[in-house]
Amino acid sequence: MHYGSVTALENVSFRANAGEILGLLGPNGAGKTTAMRILTTYLYPSSGTAKVDGFDILEAPIEVRRRIGYLPETVPLYTDMRVDEYLTFVGKARSLEGAKLAERLEKVREACRLKPVWKHLLGELSKGFGQRVGLAQALIHDPKVLILDEPTSGLDPIQIIEIRALVKSLAKEKTIIFSTHILQEVEALADRIVIINEGKLVAQGTRRELAEKVPDPGKSPQDLTLEEIFIGLLKPQKAVS
Ligand SMILES: Nc1ncnc2c1ncn2[C@@H]1O[C@H](COP(=O)(O)OP(=O)(O)O)[C@@H](O)[C@H]1O
Ligand SMILES: [Mg+2]
Repeated sequence: MHYGSVTALENVSFRANAGEILGLLGPNGAGKTTAMRILTTYLYPSSGTAKVDGFDILEAPIEVRRRIGYLPETVPLYTDMRVDEYLTFVGKARSLEGAKLAERLEKVREACRLKPVWKHLLGELSKGFGQRVGLAQALIHDPKVLILDEPTSGLDPIQIIEIRALVKSLAKEKTIIFSTHILQEVEALADRIVIINEGKLVAQGTRRELAEKVPDPGKSPQDLTLEEIFIGLLKPQKAVS
């Protein structure tokens, strides 16, 4: 993916298996948001493609969008709408109506624990509740795939724990891709990790598989901390996957 002369992603190829939580890990500017915008059909890649649940993002973008719930880096919450109004609006935009819409509103209200703020204006919400509303809008149509861009960024420690628990609880029935620049976040959530840096794939695998890819680790792979794995893999500026 190029933005003018900037190469944001180069030869990045990875796969999220059904039902797993895949963590996209990389420092700021690595290309995480770009990858997610391509997967959600928000951006067309300069070359290459991707498939979501078997549907190609270039050939069948509408099918792809139907299957995805997307929590962007900055959630577009209309500050003068109430939580219930906003989620109703998003539900209708997702073609839900009548009893089905009511059922889904009830589901996401429970799942995201929005009861205390259900009739509140979005502009009055704390960052933590704002993020839960963001998740609720991503979930309203019960998508198979969730794409969450830095879901816990800017939250306090309690809110982070709550959002992590929420994401984990959803993982049983969904495939989830989330991005983060925080090592603890992948440690806490991800079944598998994709590390990208400066638009390039550094490595992918489970934590254990990544540990085994670290060149000259200086100790046995299972004793490496995730930080040591990360630094060890980033150091040689060539892909080691
Ligand atoms: N709309 C854009 N126009 C130009 N460059 C962009 C744009 N969006 C992102 N970039 C550049 O692409 C690279 C990857 O950005 P991004 O995908 O946002 O990374 P991340 O989400 O990992 O922080 C960065 O160098 C960034 O400056
Ligand atoms: Mg980003």
